[in-house]
Amino acid sequence: MIVDERIVTFINSLDTENSRILEEIEKEAHASDVPVIRREMQSLLKVLLMLQKPMRILEVGTAIGFSALLMSEYAPEGCRITTIENYEKRIPIARGNFARAGKEDVIALIEGDAAQVLETLEGTYDFIFMDAAKGQYIHYLPHVLRLLAEGGCLVSDNVMQDGGVIQSRFAVERRNRTIHARMREYLYELKHNPLLETAILPLGDGAAISVKRNGEQPEEARPAEQAPAQKDGNQAEQAPAQKDGSQAEQALARQEEQEQHQKTEKEGEKQ
Ligand SMILES: C[S@@+](CC[C@H](N)C(=O)[O-])C[C@H]1O[C@@H](n2cnc3c(N)ncnc32)[C@H](O)[C@@H]1O
Repeated sequence: MIVDERIVTFINSLDTENSRILEEIEKEAHASDVPVIRREMQSLLKVLLMLQKPMRILEVGTAIGFSALLMSEYAPEGCRITTIENYEKRIPIARGNFARAGKEDVIALIEGDAAQVLETLEGTYDFIFMDAAKGQYIHYLPHVLRLLAEGGCLVSDNVMQDGGVIQSRFAVERRNRTIHARMREYLYELKHNPLLETAILPLGDGAAISVKRNGEQPEEARPAEQAPAQKDGNQAEQAPAQKDGSQAEQALARQEEQEQHQKTEKEGEKQ
């Protein structure tokens, strides 16, 4: 958990119930250990969908259809959802849930590996929800950028990997290093790609919300490496943003150092 548990409990305690079918499917998912979006992400999706009013939604990672059904309830009438899943055990359950909710005509499930399915998709989507294998997000991104309409919204879930993404790569278990590096690269791309404007939120296990720009990129959207030198000249002292997140590590180290310094100063004042 990347946010204080008490804060999350408090926020979620204010929540109202979902529709009966969503409550049932969520319970069934929890009972059978199927991962579904957390309450915090549910609220965020509801608000974003009501703001964005998408008519075409793409989801990567259906599981048993909970989030697709939730999105169908908050998207405007006439919106169509395409969702991709490759785990054969979950596919019939998802289809059954879409039928149970009477949403077979609204939600189309495509079976297969997202990397291959994305290649075959055409047209544009005004809302894309990424919720599949986290280590693959960076590979999906070129397709997502092609498929996302101008002004469209991309929501990526679980981008903080239980806080692991802020760790130095050496503090991460060897077997998790590839996924760690890929997620950092993904976040870097979301923040530096001139086609996107992205906010990364410490919500749930970390969420990134990106909007695809219309037309020309503004001056300040250029990658940090190309940005003009700052007036006070301190840019030269700053390392350019790094895809592997080492700049983030430096920032964290600086913050820790500063906190330690403040602590020592306070202790000195007391004496
Ligand atoms: C976190 S779950 C999705 C939960 C769902 N969005 C919800 O909240 O109801 C992630 C799903 O992505 C699927 N997945 C993982 N890698 C995939 C891939 N390469 N192609 C298609 N689906 C994939 C998994 O089988 C899993 O069911």
